Amino acid sequence: MSQTQSSSAPATAVPTRTFDARAFAAASASSPLAAATIRRRAPLARDVKLEVLYCGICHSDLHQARDEWKSVMPTVYPCVPGHEIVGRVVEVGRDVKKFEVGDLAAVGCLVDSCRNCGACHEGTEQFCQGPATFTYNAPDKHLGGVTYGGYSESVVVDEDFALTVSDELDLAGTAPLVCAGITTYSPLRHWNVGKGQKVGIVGLGGLGHMGVKFAKAFGARVVVLTTSAKKSQDAVRLGADEVIVSTNADAMTKAAGSFDFILDTVSASHDLNAYLSLLKRDGTLTIVGAPDAPQPVSVFNLLFGRRRLAGSIIGGIRETQEMLDFCAEHGITADVEVIPIQKVNEAYARLLKGDVKYRFVIDMASLKAPR
Ligand SMILES: NC(=O)c1ccc[n+]([C@@H]2O[C@H](COP(=O)([O-])OP(=O)(O)OC[C@H]3O[C@@H](n4cnc5c(N)ncnc54)[C@H](OP(=O)(O)O)[C@@H]3O)[C@@H](O)[C@H]2O)c1
Ligand SMILES: [Zn+2]
Ligand SMILES: [Zn+2]
Repeated sequence: MSQTQSSSAPATAVPTRTFDARAFAAASASSPLAAATIRRRAPLARDVKLEVLYCGICHSDLHQARDEWKSVMPTVYPCVPGHEIVGRVVEVGRDVKKFEVGDLAAVGCLVDSCRNCGACHEGTEQFCQGPATFTYNAPDKHLGGVTYGGYSESVVVDEDFALTVSDELDLAGTAPLVCAGITTYSPLRHWNVGKGQKVGIVGLGGLGHMGVKFAKAFGARVVVLTTSAKKSQDAVRLGADEVIVSTNADAMTKAAGSFDFILDTVSASHDLNAYLSLLKRDGTLTIVGAPDAPQPVSVFNLLFGRRRLAGSIIGGIRETQEMLDFCAEHGITADVEVIPIQKVNEAYARLLKGDVKYRFVIDMASLKAPR
């Protein structure tokens, strides 16, 4: 590892020592991900450095690498995605209290926040007014440029944003919990999903399959709404009580007005009205999927039945730890297909076809293979 002085740190900042790390990066919206070398800060007093063991592939990685969120979060290249990180602590700063070298740790979508606003005080850092520092493609406060994610041999993060992970759970299956897991756990908890409720999960991909597992664990009657009839058996195996193929108009009409809560995880433009009309009076459709284009809503679908349309984004650090502890207690992990990093572009292509069971996770040891 080379130790260099940062050249792009702000003039007022204390120069930060850095080291080089191997990574996979997109050089532009249209380039495939390829091997690259990035610079990371050497751990500061409150930082931990992780050797990344596994990193999940979230559909957000694909949106960001291909600049599909241009209107909200344009991508700065090179872009190193990855925010479902599980690793081993290999170095700690002198003031670190939560971790020791050799511990397991996870890093999700957040690596810092302002620590000062109302959201930070209440532990909902995802809503930080600062704003929060996301794990990749966010301004890097230490080195300038943008943050780089977990498709890399290492990450360095303030210990407050590193999560404790159970060594009883499969590590590859644990990585997706810190994005796909918390993104579904948080809204299901917020809207008090549980016993006596009929809950719909729209889209059976990375987020959707975790939504099924959590909604089931919370005691709800779970219905998967999928465009892929071939996923029906898996949906039941994952915990669904019922499966509706959403392209079947009769089945959708029959289910109208019957749901208390629906979680929509779909990654592409789709008809929200079809799902709003499935809600009972005062029911809520919460969107976590993130297509860039505006999605038209017929207001009558809200007026009749006083229905609500809401959104939710990941979860705060405290709730993410709560979710990880819940998973450890209940033996919940993601269903994963582990791949070497050299197959990441193939995995992106399959993700776009809905061909994933149900999360790709990169075994980061593959990064050390000869290029
Ligand atoms: N809000 C947040 O905090 C947050 C966090 C993470 C990810 N996200 C976003 O959530 C979305 C899902 O992420 P993911 O990683 O779960 O993706 P994923 O694994 O690709 O799953 C998405 C699923 O949506 C369904 N789908 C895809 N295209 C569709 C279409 N055109 N019409 C209807 N259904 C379609 C498919 O399920 P079926 O085959 O079952 O229909 C697909 O498996 C992405 O947009 C991602 O950026 C948001
Ligand atoms: Zn994600
Ligand atoms: Zn804040």
